[in-house]
Amino acid sequence: MLTAIKNNVSGIDADCGGACACATCHVYVDSSWVHRLPPMSDMEKGMLDFAPDIKPTSRLSCQIEVNGDLDGLIVELPRTQR
Ligand code: FES
Repeated sequence: MLTAIKNNVSGIDADCGGACACATCHVYVDSSWVHRLPPMSDMEKGMLDFAPDIKPTSRLSCQIEVNGDLDGLIVELPRTQR
């Protein structure tokens, strides 16, 4: 989420600033990457219930800690955030 904000990616509003309290940072993680991310916390799962157009690959981007292992991570924005 921070990377998106710093690079002016439209559609990632991040209204709560990364506190896992708004779901305006919802992304779809490419299926080839889903298994490489840490599992979702109960808090993230609960907040995703408030996001529109949830898919099995949905994540809140503010909860994805970017490190070298995620170099090349592919995510897509939900249609409602484009
Ligand atoms: S920025 Fe609010 S839930 Fe991610």
